[in-house]
Amino acid sequence: MVNPIKTSASLMCADLCHLEDEVRRLERIGVDLLHFDLMDGHFVPNVPLGLTILEQLRPITDLPLDVHLMVENNELFIEKLIPIGVHQIAVHVESAIHLDRVLSLIREHGIKAGVALNPSTPILALTYVLERLDFILIMTVNPGFAGQRMVPSAFRKIKDCKEFLEENNLNIPIEVDGNVSFENIPGMIAAGANILVAGTSSLFRKGRTIFENALQLEEAISQGLNLREDQGG
Ligand code: DX5
Ligand code: ZN
Repeated sequence: MVNPIKTSASLMCADLCHLEDEVRRLERIGVDLLHFDLMDGHFVPNVPLGLTILEQLRPITDLPLDVHLMVENNELFIEKLIPIGVHQIAVHVESAIHLDRVLSLIREHGIKAGVALNPSTPILALTYVLERLDFILIMTVNPGFAGQRMVPSAFRKIKDCKEFLEENNLNIPIEVDGNVSFENIPGMIAAGANILVAGTSSLFRKGRTIFENALQLEEAISQGLNLREDQGG
């Protein structure tokens, strides 16, 4: 049976001094996407990864690139991303004055377009761009840093997002990002999450190999699917 849950490994959490080795390990454990957090130090006070790393990463792996923009100037970064070749781009609704235009720009270049929502941003912010969406990225921590704790409203928001999509007859994936841990994953999946950003809370959890973490991640995912089924989801 095809697993309805996809894993997107958060590269900002990888060993950046051995990034190619890390990517090979991620390929071996079968992650679905590589999550690339692109931050400008303004929208969020951090700059862990840059465009040059992405340019050098592109030719060494066939894994789809899942770019999460946390920048003030979305258009600038999208124009730079287009020639590199990425699978999907999420822009923050909080940073996009012309969100509809930005999503159209992404799609015009054959790239899947998504909207990222900070923890306090209502789902209703998506109302008038539904026709432009290929996925939604729910921030389950305040963006910018790895190793944070999930916000208390996370499960409720994922569930609300799922219901909002059902009410609008939109069958697109919900990606969750931030403290997607072995402990939180079952509840996230039961609430409606389909794509998991795997960072220091799971695949890159310290003190164990990525292979050991991958086994525990699979276990957490199956618990989540069972919980979803028990809850009639
Ligand atoms: C936070 C980033 C996430 C984060 C996930 O802004 O978008 O990718 O690093 O990693 P953990 O599991 O450490 O929250
Ligand atoms: Zn992210």
